Amino acid sequence: MFWVQFFSRHASVQKILAISSVTRCTSKSVKHGQSAWLRSIFFNSVKYYPTKLVLGIETSCDDTAAAVVDDTGKILGEALHSQNEVHLKTGGIIPPVAQQLHRENIERIVKETLCVSGISLDELSAVATTVKPGLALSLGVGLEYSLKLVDKYKKPFIPIHHMEAHALTIRLINQVEFPFLVLLISGGHCILVVAQGVSDFLLLGQSVDIAPGDMLDKVARRLSLTKHPECCRMSGGKAIEHLAQQGNRLHYELGAPMRHHPNCNFSFSGLRSKATRIIMQKEKEEGLQEGHLLSCVTDIAAAVQHAVALHIAQRTHRAILFCIKSGILSQTNATLVVSGGVASNQYIRRALQIVTDATNFNLLCPPPRLCTDNGVMIAWNGIERMRAGSGVLHSTDGIRYEPKQGDPEDKARRNKDSIMLAKEIMILQSDRTEIGTTSAALSETRHPLPSPISPTPRLKHSNQWTEDLPSNDLEAARDLT
Ligand code: KG4
Ligand code: ZN
Repeated sequence: MFWVQFFSRHASVQKILAISSVTRCTSKSVKHGQSAWLRSIFFNSVKYYPTKLVLGIETSCDDTAAAVVDDTGKILGEALHSQNEVHLKTGGIIPPVAQQLHRENIERIVKETLCVSGISLDELSAVATTVKPGLALSLGVGLEYSLKLVDKYKKPFIPIHHMEAHALTIRLINQVEFPFLVLLISGGHCILVVAQGVSDFLLLGQSVDIAPGDMLDKVARRLSLTKHPECCRMSGGKAIEHLAQQGNRLHYELGAPMRHHPNCNFSFSGLRSKATRIIMQKEKEEGLQEGHLLSCVTDIAAAVQHAVALHIAQRTHRAILFCIKSGILSQTNATLVVSGGVASNQYIRRALQIVTDATNFNLLCPPPRLCTDNGVMIAWNGIERMRAGSGVLHSTDGIRYEPKQGDPEDKARRNKDSIMLAKEIMILQSDRTEIGTTSAALSETRHPLPSPISPTPRLKHSNQWTEDLPSNDLEAARDLT
């Protein structure tokens, strides 16, 4: 009994122990020394059975990751293989290369996760896997592997929306009740949503062009930061953060986009163009060709990071003001959660802290290793969905991944789909089968999942609802140091 109380009372302590003992690195599995020891005593003394154990699998982009998490939020084990170094060499992610690397690593990563967790596949309650959004070829590897597992071991399957997983990660670490405001900033996304429930999100704003991580990666590439000895193995965003610490942001002015846009959207492509122009000008001045390191690289990194932080802080401030004004969130005890790879940037966190201090919001960010892609967030999303009794599938017939719009493989697949659909209809017509019902069934299997992040009718008038907020009422975000 004491152990039961100890473990339920100290679940948060365990989480901290587990998290602090984890180091994320290329192809490394993680053993939670102290908590594993406690757990073994616990298992041997009182036969503690967590009611739910979920294996999470993530392959949406360039990380092959897996984790086992229980329903108290305890991370039993995780493993991750990062493709970052390969993609840095090729100057960006090449989807077939990412697919091949996922294929080569997925089995090993899942086995390592289970081995570290001390859990057999039979003991799992379910398998949760990212099915959208992401690169078609990458998503396909995780889904195919997971479907084989659930079929062989007769387990329920939980399809996961990658951004929902980023949004809910915080609830594994902190007790945050719905509703709360979430800012997701990553390599593929920039969105502001109010999380109203496990699969209920109100979209307030998003990037109208590229995501901040994508912009930072592109600027880093243009600056040839892989040639810098201090950051040759870092992602673009991390390299910019690292160099910015040694630079002076005041040497270059990039400004903040969308100052006069009365909504909560973002834009980063203009900042990228301005950064490119500055880089080209400096190359001319220093007599350097593209591909060589500039002497002022730290100052450019600092100015770029500052402009990104300022823009993110200003638009988030606007969303907070809107949430308060419209009563979506109460002014007392409201929370802003920031997650996604770019949220591991400490300068951006500080900018957002200024905004939340000024508006009396609590700012919560997962630790950096849980901000970037990982298996834990997928497994935890699976636990959240099991608890909420939503999206747990006992049949995987017709399940498929849904890539990000604009993904070239997705376009090719869609074309193939429509050709196949047309063929099916022709066959059906010649068979004189009832086309209406059958094609409805076909289109259902093309989109088998409800979209967790879907704008509600309120969103249709986003310009109207924010236009009465003064766009210059953003002093808190303006004087960032
Ligand atoms: O969430 P994530 O791991 O993958 C996506 O879902 O996109 O985010 C990856 C992105 C990359 O663009 C990377 O450059 C950026 O997060 N990133 C950072 C930092 N660490 C990773 N950006 C700014 N500062 C960092 N410290
Ligand atoms: Zn992500």
